[in-house]
Amino acid sequence: MEIFLCLAVSLLFLFRPSTGQGLVGVSLRATNHYIEQGKTIELINMMKIPRVRVIDPTTEFISSLIGSGVIVSLSVEDEDTLTLIGTNKTAACDYVRNLIASSGRSVNISSISIGDEIIVKKPKLIKTVLKGVENVRESLEGLGLPGVVVSTSHSYDMIDGVFPPSASTFSPKYLSEITTALKILNRTNTPFQIELYPYEIYKAGKVAEANIKYTMFEVDVKDESIYIDPATGLRYASVLDMMIDSTFSALAKAGYGNMGLEITGTGWPNWNPDIDGLTTEENDFMSGEYNQRVINFVNSRPGTPLRPYESISVYLNGLVNDDPVEASSETAITYRSFMGIVTNYFKHRYNMNWSVVKVPPVIGGGAAGPSATFFLCFFLSIFFFFLLL
Ligand SMILES: *[C@@H]1O[C@H](CO)[C@@H](O)[C@H](O)[C@H]1NC(C)=O
Ligand SMILES: *[C@@H]1O[C@H](CO)[C@@H](O)[C@H](O)[C@H]1NC(C)=O
Ligand SMILES: *[C@@H]1O[C@H](CO)[C@@H](O)[C@H](O)[C@H]1NC(C)=O
Ligand SMILES: *[C@@H]1O[C@H](CO)[C@@H](O)[C@H](O)[C@H]1NC(C)=O
Repeated sequence: MEIFLCLAVSLLFLFRPSTGQGLVGVSLRATNHYIEQGKTIELINMMKIPRVRVIDPTTEFISSLIGSGVIVSLSVEDEDTLTLIGTNKTAACDYVRNLIASSGRSVNISSISIGDEIIVKKPKLIKTVLKGVENVRESLEGLGLPGVVVSTSHSYDMIDGVFPPSASTFSPKYLSEITTALKILNRTNTPFQIELYPYEIYKAGKVAEANIKYTMFEVDVKDESIYIDPATGLRYASVLDMMIDSTFSALAKAGYGNMGLEITGTGWPNWNPDIDGLTTEENDFMSGEYNQRVINFVNSRPGTPLRPYESISVYLNGLVNDDPVEASSETAITYRSFMGIVTNYFKHRYNMNWSVVKVPPVIGGGAAGPSATFFLCFFLSIFFFFLLL
């Protein structure tokens, strides 16, 4: 039994998805009036952005992605649409069929989120949203597309703690809603989606480990004074990894230790309406540094300290800043609306390099290095692998 488990784990490692494709993408709201379809696709192709997350997708926008080669994730956030697809199965099916048909099935849609941070922002809608998740998944199955992930995106506000990651749990305040959501995700073998903003942890200033060096990926994993989780002995060089592993810990404590993860949003504001004092250049600099480091970091590390062999896709929020007219109708404007990597007129705020270098996996995530058990397991698996051939 152990051998088979070991075989499975090692095969997983051998066939770990290549990082060549690029795990980091960028999100955009299809209804933002600064997003002109043709120009947007041109920009995405020119910058060589490998993934886009389209918020409130329109059929026009999806069809404009045909032939672009980007991997596409969709996020349904408009409240009327959420209500419709969560309460009317026929309508959900029509909605999905329209979107998929508009792409002629030649757009690579990898995942669809139904609702964004609903448990925290609009808790009354959670039942409808979860029904929507099921309706959309069934519609996709009906269309012969069972491989598209259907999930709902969550807020880090539901998780208590950042460091040490192993101590994190879901906040009791949200436990009943989250338990219902997790049951559905588990049944359909769907990853957990979450928005992770190290900026917010850093600004809150409550966690010593979330200082600027750790927030900005400036710590060398070999640094002797690096933060070590006392319970696991794992070494943490970034707040992003602390937040990811905290999420994994919370999931494990809720009984879902194998659930996958997708980061549906991260970023650093190019303007914070609540904080004065930084010039536009300073803000752009910080935002540019953070975004570039996320691209480099996520694409070059083999996984997090807790799950060193699992690649996780990440979406930068967003291509342009939110349109203030739209933003104000829904929720208050916060710094999260000001994270666009280019200006509203598609001028670059800073240089970005989206090319990905393939880096051989560093076994053990920078900890003590591979254990003897790992090697034994690895070679045994190769042996069994050939035996099976
Ligand atoms: C559900 O949606 C369909 C298709 O849009 C519509 O014809 C039908 O009247 C709706 N049903 C209800 C109960 O609203
Ligand atoms: C679609 O994207 C997935 C990654 O999400 C990739 O594994 C797959 O090869 C892509 N399919 C096509 C047809 O490009
Ligand atoms: C789903 O739940 C079952 C039973 O609790 C468990 O064995 C399995 O590992 C879970 N799957 C995930 C992805 O967490
Ligand atoms: C972009 O990044 C890649 C991989 O990290 C590197 O090989 C390339 O030289 C960089 N390009 C520029 C213009 O800096």
